Amino acid sequence: MKADKHNTPPQTLSFLVHLLPYKNGENGLITLLKTPISTTSTLHSQHFSLSLSLSLSLFLYMANLATLFTVLLSLLCYSQTGFALVQWPGGTSTRFYDFKVQTMRVTKLCNTKEIVTINGMFPGPVVYAQEDDRVIVKVTNETPYNTTIHWHGIRQRLSCWSDGPSYITQCPIQAGQTFTYEFTIVKQKGTLLWHAHVSWLRGTVYGAIVVYPKTGVPYPFKYPYEEHIILLGEYWVKDLVQLERQVLASGGGPPPANAFTINGHPGPNYNCSKNDVYKIDVVPGKTYLLRVINAGLNMENFFAIAHHKLTIVEVDAEYTKPFTTDRVMLGPGQTINVLVTTDQPIGKYSMAMGAYMSAKGVKFQNISAIAYFQYLGAVPNSIALPAQLPSFNDNLAVKTVMDGLRSLNPVNVSKEIDTNLFYTIGLNVQKCRSKTPKNNCQATNNGVLAASMNNISFIRPNISLLEAYYKKINGYYTEDFPDVPLKFYDFVNGAPNNIPNDTQALNGTRTKVLEYGTRVQVILQDTGTVSTENHPIHLHGFSFYVVGYGTGNYDPQTANFNLVDPPYMNTIGVPVGGWAAIRFVADNPGVWFMHCHLEIHLSWGLSMVFIVKNGHGELETLPHPPADLPRC
Ligand code: C2O
Repeated sequence: MKADKHNTPPQTLSFLVHLLPYKNGENGLITLLKTPISTTSTLHSQHFSLSLSLSLSLFLYMANLATLFTVLLSLLCYSQTGFALVQWPGGTSTRFYDFKVQTMRVTKLCNTKEIVTINGMFPGPVVYAQEDDRVIVKVTNETPYNTTIHWHGIRQRLSCWSDGPSYITQCPIQAGQTFTYEFTIVKQKGTLLWHAHVSWLRGTVYGAIVVYPKTGVPYPFKYPYEEHIILLGEYWVKDLVQLERQVLASGGGPPPANAFTINGHPGPNYNCSKNDVYKIDVVPGKTYLLRVINAGLNMENFFAIAHHKLTIVEVDAEYTKPFTTDRVMLGPGQTINVLVTTDQPIGKYSMAMGAYMSAKGVKFQNISAIAYFQYLGAVPNSIALPAQLPSFNDNLAVKTVMDGLRSLNPVNVSKEIDTNLFYTIGLNVQKCRSKTPKNNCQATNNGVLAASMNNISFIRPNISLLEAYYKKINGYYTEDFPDVPLKFYDFVNGAPNNIPNDTQALNGTRTKVLEYGTRVQVILQDTGTVSTENHPIHLHGFSFYVVGYGTGNYDPQTANFNLVDPPYMNTIGVPVGGWAAIRFVADNPGVWFMHCHLEIHLSWGLSMVFIVKNGHGELETLPHPPADLPRC
């Protein structure tokens, strides 16, 4: 397994692929696959396709035609709008990708099974682009499973239809169907991820998004010698679609993953995985950029490299002030870019991914995934020096990293708030309604586990909410998601109803409607109803400033806010038994999901939906739905 050695900066227009995705080899082993990228001058745009098709050149030819068309179209728009350079998110260049959703046989942990993949790659292909590029991904579903793809962290400016969460912005792409996602990466650069957004498919259907700065724009730190992608994942031996069904039917909690993985590899700590290890070959005395992504399902994770410091320079695809630490923590959906300098004696070092479990009484995988960070000249078969991970419940380690996250530059966060929201987040135990409680009500007190925001457990509709909203189809959702919980109590130590036994939530497909341009603050408050827990809350369609956080119940009298350089994120790990305050301006019309990115919590209903109305100005209106939008 060899990665490219030299990575030329993007401004030289020949950026290479640093971390290469995998292709399942004939022998069942995962081997590296080189992904071709062709780049031309900016005028003609850069195109590439991760399609494995042999007709790459034909594809590129068509891609060029399409760009020509786009260029002509934008020229036309330009001439029509005179010199008013309206920033319609048409994109500078266009990048085409062909995603075939396919099943593939994989052997891991001495078990062979079919997993769902994109183009037979696990992890999936990397989507490369530059800031302000247009990205077009044709997704063809060649599996029997309903599929959608979500571009996690892409703000989808005026392109809500391409956001991807099933039953929120689209119906799933059914077996044999195709849907083409189109969006412009407006004013965004950095590391993000894409993943399936239907059932638990994202357990294997995920990959990195790498958005380079515009040509000629350097990174705000010393140029790294090489860049690598580190995708943290969780692997189950069971079929994930069945697993979700079984867990939900049981009323109880999910089983832990059989293994954590780093770029798809569990590493030597697990059964049969001695040789199923990811490795980065490094040269002494250089600085490497690692794009660390948590693509796991149900766990938050620590990541560390033995004897090496990590300097955080970017979080959720936004630059931060450099912050040096021994380890980072990422919830699913979060991305952190770190610089690592190879300043240690020549040797073989472990990169480790371990559990961060802040809830009480939850079973979890406590074996770490290991990959190698191996210096040139190290004895290949030597034992890798172990990495020091914090213990699984080290909340302080998490706080320390969070305290270090500051936007690189002073930010423009709204000081005034139009809409002040207070949302509790947590789990519930619902009354058992089953005739076979032994099978279906395995939570405490013979109940059924659920999760909620403001004590309302989200019911997934069986129609796309965006379509229902856009076409004014009544009866699928309500607009009464409450601004504050229906009942105030000691959220961290109490329970919503008759303490301590009745922790029942209401149900509903409730939305919160926001006028265009509303300046919103949301206080996210963890509850201890079942157990306090750090929840990675993700908002679609926006990044938000994390202006404050703390432990205990939120108290406006004592809360400390940072309005100078708060981090700008798309997923915030709300501290266990604590709160976080986020701010965003609702200036992107559409239907936007906000949910816990622990997949089991999402399945249990820990979510809600914002509807952002059209504005009255130019480019404040959601366009028509694409013609190929899937039907339910
Ligand atoms: Cu990364 Cu709604 O998800």
